[in-house]
Amino acid sequence: MKKNERIDTRLIHTGSNPNKQNGAVNTPVYRASTVIFPTTENLAEALKFKYDKTFYGVHGTPSSFALEEAMAEIEGGYRAISVSSGLAAITTALITFLNTGDHLLMVDSVYGPTRNFCDTVLKKFGVETTYYDPMAGSQIKNLIKSETKVIFTESPGSYTFEVQDIPQITKIAKEFGIKVMMDNTWSAGFYYKPFNFGIDISIQATTKYQAGHSDVILGHIISKSEEDWLKLKTMTSNLGQAVAPDACYLALRGLRTLSVRLEQHQESALTVAEWLKNRPEVIQLLHPAFESCPGHDIWKRDFSGSSGLFSFIIQYVQPEKVRNMLNNFQYFKMGFSWGGFESLILQSDPAKNRSAVKWENSGLLFRVHIGQEDVQDLISDLKIGFDRLSGKE
Ligand SMILES: Cc1ncc(COP(=O)(O)O)c(C=O)c1O
Repeated sequence: MKKNERIDTRLIHTGSNPNKQNGAVNTPVYRASTVIFPTTENLAEALKFKYDKTFYGVHGTPSSFALEEAMAEIEGGYRAISVSSGLAAITTALITFLNTGDHLLMVDSVYGPTRNFCDTVLKKFGVETTYYDPMAGSQIKNLIKSETKVIFTESPGSYTFEVQDIPQITKIAKEFGIKVMMDNTWSAGFYYKPFNFGIDISIQATTKYQAGHSDVILGHIISKSEEDWLKLKTMTSNLGQAVAPDACYLALRGLRTLSVRLEQHQESALTVAEWLKNRPEVIQLLHPAFESCPGHDIWKRDFSGSSGLFSFIIQYVQPEKVRNMLNNFQYFKMGFSWGGFESLILQSDPAKNRSAVKWENSGLLFRVHIGQEDVQDLISDLKIGFDRLSGKE
């Protein structure tokens, strides 16, 4: 990033080079598998730079290169790698730095499919995973073994939103020569700059806020160092991980409006959360910007904002009442993923996905994504939903 330019300005110009694209402002879709080399000398020369220029579609196209440039710049990393999904970004990063016999420290509040990957694929290949308390901070030291090669963080945690003390973790990890990765999807790399806090590898499910329109699946791995980037790129290439140029184009187009969309998600989510806080049904708000969220002080210290995804817990009610509430919302729809323009709601039981720390809350947890609808309409949708819970509707 140029010193005198702020992030909003860079989001408009990063990954854009009209001089190389016949004047087109946004890098167009390059659909290319085969790339032609006019001479044997050209081919031999291209082999030296196969990850940097168009060489063969699997290694990237100008569409993916442009997006990678932008993704690395937003987080302040050395370089980014596009992969087919957010989950692929996580799994590719893990297997790049783990070998048979190694030990992985994985945060207990991690995204469910990441946990599944550790418990199935990594286990099958002889990598041991220990889950740790998201609030462990420097206590993580007690779990480190000589075989520990990676500490994986996700902050805030999936569904439960614990904010991790990343500087404490990275400080200890450096002492032991352990790589620290972070799933930074919640902040979109916009409200949290992982490399300023000692993270080595950042993961983005680009599917969410960067693409922003619920119609793209894409992931990025962003590294702090050139050395790590080369290892990650070599693994991506060995796996035959390729990305559709159309998906890259859509994500790059989405990035141009990331800032205004996120600001709106943030503002509306804070308004809805404030309303929920004062409702008698709600026993806990799990939104990092509110005191009731574990790690709220860390969020205040390290983050510059909050996105549109958070959870709340209500007192226990009968399942049929919950079904009646969920099935009849006008705007809050049930569906996986988040980060698009629409509002979503999902019920989740964290107890099913915990092994380091028991989830003891007896209430019912709902995760919401606050979309771009008018916030008053969203609040009245929730209010009528709560009426259904109490049998008033
Ligand atoms: C925190 C987090 N990380 C990663 C992913 C995976 O992204 P994708 O759906 O692109 O595989 C998700 C998806 O919901 C997520 O919530």
